[in-house]
Amino acid sequence: MTDTREDTIGTRSNARKVHIRTYGCQMNVYDSQRMGDALAGEGYRTTETIEDADLVLINTCHIRERAAEKIYSELGRIRVLKAERAREGRPLTVGVAGCVAQAEGAEIIERASIVDLVIGPQTYHRLPQALERVSRGEKVVDTDYALEDKFEHLPATEPAAIRARGVTAFLTVQEGCDKFCTFCVVPYTRGAEVSRPFAQVLDEARRLAASGVRELTLLGQNVNAWSSSDAAGGTVGLAHLLRALAGIPGIARLRYTTSHPRDMDDDLIAAHGDLPALMPYLHLPVQSGSDRILKAMNRRHTAADYRTLLDRIRAARPDIALSGDFIVGFPGETEADFEATMDLVRAVNYACAFTFKYSPRPGTPGANLPDHVPESVMAERLARLNALIREQQDGFARSLVGAALPVLVEKPGRYAHQLVGRSPYLQPVVLPAGAGAIGDVVTVTIAGTLTNSLVAEGAHPDEAPARLTA
Ligand code: SAH
Ligand code: SF4
Ligand code: F3S
Repeated sequence: MTDTREDTIGTRSNARKVHIRTYGCQMNVYDSQRMGDALAGEGYRTTETIEDADLVLINTCHIRERAAEKIYSELGRIRVLKAERAREGRPLTVGVAGCVAQAEGAEIIERASIVDLVIGPQTYHRLPQALERVSRGEKVVDTDYALEDKFEHLPATEPAAIRARGVTAFLTVQEGCDKFCTFCVVPYTRGAEVSRPFAQVLDEARRLAASGVRELTLLGQNVNAWSSSDAAGGTVGLAHLLRALAGIPGIARLRYTTSHPRDMDDDLIAAHGDLPALMPYLHLPVQSGSDRILKAMNRRHTAADYRTLLDRIRAARPDIALSGDFIVGFPGETEADFEATMDLVRAVNYACAFTFKYSPRPGTPGANLPDHVPESVMAERLARLNALIREQQDGFARSLVGAALPVLVEKPGRYAHQLVGRSPYLQPVVLPAGAGAIGDVVTVTIAGTLTNSLVAEGAHPDEAPARLTA
């Protein structure tokens, strides 16, 4: 019998092409890469241009209303392209993946009939079979929480693909969330907390390192809730995993995100003090500085708990820099509650922070609370918070001027005489071309700052030297 897929490839000059668009968090970036890998095994090549593609996959985010709505306007634009393609006799298959897919399932096809496939984050390993069904004319919705381990079933990334992605890599070690903060959709879109087994993570990390990756960022919705059994059958936590990963030849830097304050255990705090590969930069969201609001958010910690925790982390690693997430305008938030958030930010002094206006999400308890804060009040509070954070972020960057910092060289710069790397604190650093090779960790003296990056001595940044604050 003829394999119709082979026929399809054979009658065209090129292999089938997939265009993947990614929204949302780093886990979606990682998932998109793995979907690309799975499709490569099916003969697809990835393309940067949608006009070129036979299959477009949109990997979506449901965290805030605007993120979810963006998908429908995008599908509206693709609809025109799909109609053109049908006229040309070169069909375009449209798939929606990610957290909107999980949350809305078949509703997506009802609202946007051009969608052929809706696939949730737990079933990406079944993507080839789902596409097979689509090719037979079916509309497919696969949003089960699969019983099998998707990571076990997704194919390993080819060394060439790892190299093409550069010297830093994401690695999902934990997925899902059991915390149920009252504003958040993630427990509904990503399901219950699941940890990838120790041996499986180590195996992928070794493969990444063998293909040139120098820095690993471990991902999880609650990455510090990761736990697994070790070879001896005992239970181990994230600190144990980090120590094992630090021992892999080639791995110079480790990071993890996102952590929840309640899961920062003693061993993990200690690892910040004694594991040189673990970068002194921690993203530890707190959301609000008001205990009343923290309680309504079901965060299960107070502002004082958070500050005490930071004191302990800073005792272990005095030069640690912090980043956070904040929501302004959670239902019932008063001016005094917001001021408590400003006070907490002033007390902590963040190197970076992400701030959001509260967005009511369908199905979450927060959406049903009374006293929603008017948009204009949220906008005004967000502006005040952002101004404070900008000040702290710029102050932090300026404090590094004159310091010798280890920088991981990541890629060529905008001009031939430049390279771009990352500081321990994730800031891009413009380097002189002679500073080292891509993948090296080089120590450079910081000469100045640009809006969102640092400039090393001798780098001659492309922005006017007058903007340097050396
Ligand atoms: N798992 C992480 C991050 C979850 S989503 C954690 O526990 O912190 C990333 C950020 O989006 C959150 O930290 C929160 O600040 C923001 N966020 C989540 N739901 C939101 C909502 N409904 N409205 C506004 N911001 C939201
Ligand atoms: Fe969402 Fe809270 Fe879970 Fe983070 S801890 S993913 S904010 S429910
Ligand atoms: Fe968005 Fe899902 Fe990540 S809702 S933030 S893509 S876990």
